[in-house]
Amino acid sequence: MAINPFIFGRIVTGEDFCPRPDAERALRSCLATRRNTLILGPRRVGKSSLIFQSCSARPVSRLIYAQLWAVKSLEDLAARMVRGMSSAAATPSMLQRLGGLLASLRPKIEFDPVTGAPSLTLAAGMAASPREIHGVFDALESLSAGGRLVVALDEFQDVALLPDADALIGEIRGRIQRQSDVTYLFAGSIRHRLEGLFTHPGSPFFKAVEVLEVGGLDDALFRNYLRERFERGKRRTDDAFLDSVLDTADRIPSDVQQLCSSLWEVTREKQTLGPADLGAGIGRLIAGRRGTYEAMVHPLTDIQMRVLRTVARRGGQEPQSRGFIEESGVRLPASIKRALLRLSELEMLFNDRGIWRFFDPFFRAWIRSA
Ligand SMILES: Nc1ncnc2c1ncn2[C@@H]1O[C@H](COP(=O)(O)OP(=O)(O)OP(=O)(O)O)[C@@H](O)[C@H]1O
Ligand SMILES: [Mg+2]
Repeated sequence: MAINPFIFGRIVTGEDFCPRPDAERALRSCLATRRNTLILGPRRVGKSSLIFQSCSARPVSRLIYAQLWAVKSLEDLAARMVRGMSSAAATPSMLQRLGGLLASLRPKIEFDPVTGAPSLTLAAGMAASPREIHGVFDALESLSAGGRLVVALDEFQDVALLPDADALIGEIRGRIQRQSDVTYLFAGSIRHRLEGLFTHPGSPFFKAVEVLEVGGLDDALFRNYLRERFERGKRRTDDAFLDSVLDTADRIPSDVQQLCSSLWEVTREKQTLGPADLGAGIGRLIAGRRGTYEAMVHPLTDIQMRVLRTVARRGGQEPQSRGFIEESGVRLPASIKRALLRLSELEMLFNDRGIWRFFDPFFRAWIRSA
């Protein structure tokens, strides 16, 4: 029996990566010409996977990847970058060289208890100042000499929240202004914070990077990818069914895969999948989250709840329209607006170019069914 082939919540590459030719071509072209690039896109759309996939072939010789999600201090940042450098060091001698380059941070070599693989770590409590961070970036440049090194700083928006953000931003700005062998990729999903760093006139990296917007996958390519996986388990699907799967999951690749994984679990071999299975697949997903969803809506006011339900049922375009007002029963447009802002502060909704959308399409499905 085939095992569930749907993957979500982690980086996918190679065989697991559904081609996205435009984005891959755009990023590869930036890499080939060593242009520093900002990859901007909604959550769970596949930004990190795109980085790994595009850096897995020439001309990139090595990718150093650091995830900066909720980074708290310069020490934390240095530790994450050292971890990225350490996992990119393919041989013990490279690791040793890296240890030498980072000597001022007094790194330790540790061995993975299971695989025995060595890695470098920084001692906890090490006090990193901007000078040490300078050392980390120097080490990166020494490592890259002669090769094509790519440094990816993922969830970069969170550096803006660091107490020492200015020192770090100054450091990186200095690096990318100087021509070097290192190509920097920045990625993240919190648009307004990234725009504050990169695209507003007066922001520290204004016009210093290429901006690459990543949206959903191409429908036809994604349907092929999904159909082929269902067929591995002898489950038949047609375009109309797969389109309804894409619609239900708002075309967010990770959520589509999660829904397909659930569909796989509620169906059997030799079955042709249809609307009843979709209902069962969504039901299975929602059942596991009911507690979380109930806790999320518990503190909402009556007006906020009405607005949320109306966005779930009719969509979040034109919330000031007569139709929205009638359906929600909230008479004052100003109250609707206030509720929408509160719902976005609570990270239930976000405004996507004028349209209010749910962050979590399964939460929307739950609200609709409740
Ligand atoms: N090219 C792809 N082909 C198939 N699935 C993909 C692809 N890209 C992303 N996914 C799906 O999305 C999930 C998350 O991918 P990834 O971590 O790259 O997204 P992200 O945009 O970096 O997410 P986050 O906002 O959480 O950082 C994957 O586990 C997979 O389910
Ligand atoms: Mg990511």
